[in-house]
Amino acid sequence: MNILVVYDSYFGNTERIALAIKDSISEKNHVIIKKISNFADKDLAGIELIVIGSPTRAFRPTEVIRKFLKKIDIKKYKWIAFDTGVNPDLINSKILKLMVKNFGYAAPYMAKIIKKSGGKMLLEPETFFVIGNEGPLVKGEIDRFQKWFNSLNL
Ligand SMILES: Cc1cc2nc3c(=O)[nH]c(=O)nc-3n(C[C@H](O)[C@H](O)[C@H](O)COP(=O)(O)O)c2cc1C
Repeated sequence: MNILVVYDSYFGNTERIALAIKDSISEKNHVIIKKISNFADKDLAGIELIVIGSPTRAFRPTEVIRKFLKKIDIKKYKWIAFDTGVNPDLINSKILKLMVKNFGYAAPYMAKIIKKSGGKMLLEPETFFVIGNEGPLVKGEIDRFQKWFNSLNL
């Protein structure tokens, strides 16, 4: 399968996850991994599956990721969406905890847009947790990501 992994990242946590695909995917697939700032339309040539990853910022994906989803012909591709965010169990402020729980994360936000536009989601959207506002990733999250991704048996 021809796969494009496209992601945004401020502090490197979402990027670490995106790059981990390389270590876990079988060689019969062809994978391009691009930070959204380096993405060019020609990267879509021959692509069948797009893996999209974003940090959760104010309960949704970053602006560049939202713009990317607006301009791309979503229904032409299969999709997987993941994000990074803060685990509500690790938030001390009660109000913030409630907000994070109720307003949600970037991956379900992206999945909603993708499904609404006729894109096929191959996995349920998933969040991988960071410690504090800037990370690092909670221990074990790269493994959890690889298990989640490998459940596709690509
Ligand atoms: C301005 C700002 C807003 C954020 N908003 C949220 C949020 O709404 N929910 C959440 O779980 N984490 C939030 N975070 C934490 C980010 O999700 C965290 O910085 C991100 O997972 C790190 O990924 P990156 O290293 O790839 O940038 C926020 C962080 C910043 C700096």
